[in-house]
Amino acid sequence: MRASIASFTASLALCALACQGQPAADAGAPVDAAAREALAADRAGSVFTAPNAAGAAQTINASGGRVIDPGNPFFQALGTNGRACATCHDVRDNMTITPARLRDRFDATGGTDPIFRPVDGATSPDADVSTVEARRSAYALLLSRGLIRIGLGVPPDAEFELVDVQDPYGHASAAELSLFRRPLPATNLRFLSTVMWDGRETFPDASQPGGYAPLALELADQANVATLGHAQAAAPLGDAQRQAIVAFELQLYTAQASDDGAGRLTSGGASGGPRVLSAQPFTFGVNDPFDGGPFDPAVFDEFTAWQGSRREARAAIARGQELFDHLPIAITGVSGLNDELGLPVVQGTCTTCHDTPHAGSHSVPAPLRVGTDLPEPPGGLDASGLPVYTLRDRATGELTRTTDPGRALVTGRWKDIGRFKGPTLRGLAGRAPYFHNGSAPDLASVVGFYDARFGLRLTEGEKGDLVAFLRAL
Ligand code: HEC
Ligand code: HEC
Repeated sequence: MRASIASFTASLALCALACQGQPAADAGAPVDAAAREALAADRAGSVFTAPNAAGAAQTINASGGRVIDPGNPFFQALGTNGRACATCHDVRDNMTITPARLRDRFDATGGTDPIFRPVDGATSPDADVSTVEARRSAYALLLSRGLIRIGLGVPPDAEFELVDVQDPYGHASAAELSLFRRPLPATNLRFLSTVMWDGRETFPDASQPGGYAPLALELADQANVATLGHAQAAAPLGDAQRQAIVAFELQLYTAQASDDGAGRLTSGGASGGPRVLSAQPFTFGVNDPFDGGPFDPAVFDEFTAWQGSRREARAAIARGQELFDHLPIAITGVSGLNDELGLPVVQGTCTTCHDTPHAGSHSVPAPLRVGTDLPEPPGGLDASGLPVYTLRDRATGELTRTTDPGRALVTGRWKDIGRFKGPTLRGLAGRAPYFHNGSAPDLASVVGFYDARFGLRLTEGEKGDLVAFLRAL
């Protein structure tokens, strides 16, 4: 990785001489000069370095192929509205999108960049997009929190019914709820046990080990559905295109590579950065705490007793890792965990739910309701501007209010309301905001949420350490 950082810097320097005036050719082309240069410099490379507020992240193509490969359908407009996968999964934003760059894209194009399409970029598909000012208002949730509108209906045989809708944008109904969600990063995919926030692209298959269809098959279906939906294609993707997309995206790994305080995150043998991640073994169910798996992730052990330069910043990351691994959390009121186990309190840690080594996702499908979907979520999360749905259990008459029923719109089950997967926790620093609905503007807000939600009583120092650790992932 050192060599690649060096060669990246060198190619930037060369590019400053050679690349002047070259237009950026990709869909969703970068608008600021620095990004354009980075893209030009890295276009043919298998490593892409993306600066962020904490330092820099890197995305690598582990096969040695290009990270930005215009020949791959991932980068091509496959539908009718000019969008590619890369429109919403942008390597400069760790394979998702971020509000700051979306605002740049809006300003540079007057809100006509392909990401600004009414179908799911706007707060309603019927929103007025006739003028720049109308577009600024129609794309408000995209511009402020990077949210895409997912339209899903209540399944016909659901155990619940929709009894009230408060949609400020006047579109949502039982036939199509408007759910505003962050694009999950299309990277580090090899570690996934669950595809999409609500697992709707994860298919039970009893004939397979683990009980689910092979990941590549799920991702191929996902690519097709994304093309028909987000890109408004008239016909399904062909098999060759699906396979080319899946083969490409499965080779991508993203992680923070350097930290402004701690320096290179592979220093002294530490296991930060995407290269080590790409070599991390994964098996379905690995370390699942409910299957007796021990868990002791150790990305930054080498920083614990570090005596060299940058000692303070490295020690903070190591202390944060220690908290993440071992801070006792009395997990309570989590639908999908406490009820499934029949335990009002589960004594756990952050890693109870983020258990996949080095990746931080859950190694089996285990959608959970931690409370991020509530109209007034705990811990100061920002749910403003989201529609609010009231659902009634057909059997008991019980009511619940939510901004997103999550898993329940896939299964139709009452108990699945508000449940979402625990996502991968790598390359976090460059892709705020967090949680499925972008309700945490930064990592300090994520930590603040858990502190309030589980009564952790973290000191300011501990909060800072946890943020330092998360930022370095
Ligand atoms: C308009 C924006 C947009 C476009 C275009 C788009 N996506 Fe996505 N993508 C999203 C959103 C939003 C989600 C999360 C939706 C959810 O979970 O309900 C997502 C989720 C994903 C995931 C799931 C990752 C995970 O952790 O489960 C993959 C993989 C993915 N997209 C790949 C693609 C591919 C391949 C294409 C092109 C064929 C594509 N996307 C086009 C917005 C987009
Ligand atoms: C009870 C299970 C559980 C515990 C314990 C837990 N998490 Fe989570 N975590 C989740 C789930 C589920 C999500 C996704 C929620 C959503 O998006 O609505 C999540 C999301 C996150 C995210 C946002 C990731 C993203 O891409 O948006 C971060 C960061 C995170 N958790 C860190 C932590 C830390 C730090 C701790 C310990 C203090 C912790 N988690 C403890 C289940 C848990």
